[in-house]
Amino acid sequence: MSSIAHTVSLGDRTYEVRIGNGISHEAVMRAAAERSKGRVVVTVTSPGVQKALPALVKALAEHGPVIITQVDGETAKSSTELARIWEGLAAAAMGRDGTVIALGGGVVGDLAGFAAASYLRGVSFIQIPTTLLAMVDSSVGGKTGINLPQGKNLVGAFHQPQVVLADTQVLQSLPVREFSAGVAEVIKYGLLGDGTLFAKLESAGCLTWNHPELAAIILRCVEMKASIVAKDERETAEINGRALLNLGHTFGHAIEAVAGYGTYLHGEAIAVGLSMAATLSQDLGFLSEAQVRRVQSVLKLNALPVNLTKPLKAEDLMAAMRRDKKVRSGTLRFIVMQDLGVAVTHDSVPALSVRKALLAGGAV
Ligand SMILES: NC(=O)c1ccc[n+]([C@@H]2O[C@H](COP(=O)([O-])OP(=O)(O)OC[C@H]3O[C@@H](n4cnc5c(N)ncnc54)[C@H](O)[C@@H]3O)[C@@H](O)[C@H]2O)c1
Repeated sequence: MSSIAHTVSLGDRTYEVRIGNGISHEAVMRAAAERSKGRVVVTVTSPGVQKALPALVKALAEHGPVIITQVDGETAKSSTELARIWEGLAAAAMGRDGTVIALGGGVVGDLAGFAAASYLRGVSFIQIPTTLLAMVDSSVGGKTGINLPQGKNLVGAFHQPQVVLADTQVLQSLPVREFSAGVAEVIKYGLLGDGTLFAKLESAGCLTWNHPELAAIILRCVEMKASIVAKDERETAEINGRALLNLGHTFGHAIEAVAGYGTYLHGEAIAVGLSMAATLSQDLGFLSEAQVRRVQSVLKLNALPVNLTKPLKAEDLMAAMRRDKKVRSGTLRFIVMQDLGVAVTHDSVPALSVRKALLAGGAV
């Protein structure tokens, strides 16, 4: 088994992200080592992941209890599930030297990560991301949390993992639509900060779990996220910084909210959002029409939408964007592309340009 790694440098919270086919077995070895020292290790996963990866769940279960969320997907990021995990950790008599293993996509990572951040005021946790989105985005950077009925991610904490083990083999069972949704975030990284990565994605063809370039592409995304997080760990930078990771997201969040959650996978809404952000960047005089087409071609190559699949009202999308927390003090703030691979925060984007981008993307 060969693996590649990147170190996320955050002082005493520094950790490695290790990527490779079969690397998740390192978690089993770590769990065995902890247990041999008398320390408690608890794995948290979801029913879907347990079904998809039974051998890995079984191997981890040999070294400590496994808590399976009652539901799969976004609704698992709830205070009810969080309380179940806290109680499960207490029932296992986990002390401050215990470890939580988050085995799953971004949902399990955020939920179990927050349980680890808050139980006994913080215990160690290991991320085994099992979706492409979780590998390139949610497992790195330390944001953990749950949703409230009033909104997504309203309660949470910054808590960095001890290690991230991104095993490309586990992606084999991921539904193709979920895989593609993760590719939208990969394309986002190319567009926001690495023209070479973007060009590689153009020439790589459709990405799949066993694409020979996949591990290297994941590594590059992790490096970029780590470097952005290292400079702006708590998203306090007024411009650029961690906010750049939101390229395509102001549009994407509005699409998800107006279409109704669940209509689009998050990555699909981001794909349309990236296409709209490219059109907006063209309208502002940064990108050429040919560059906008290149953005859309890479998205389509990976079976992602570039236009709304059903028309939504531009007015409703504008209203949703004004409510988005990324739109500060009423002015329209967007992440725009100055070039393919160079994104910047742009304040005071004219509402008319935003509207044009929405209409070009299929809004009415
Ligand atoms: N913390 C962060 O920085 C951050 C960043 C981005 C997104 N997020 C969060 O991530 C979440 C979305 O994560 P996601 O897209 O990974 O969704 P997810 O965790 O809901 O996983 C998607 C689906 O795939 C299934 N699945 C996962 N791995 C599988 C596998 N290997 N084989 C078969 N099925 C598998 C899951 O059971 C689920 O049904 C959102 O809640 C979002 O807020 C967090």
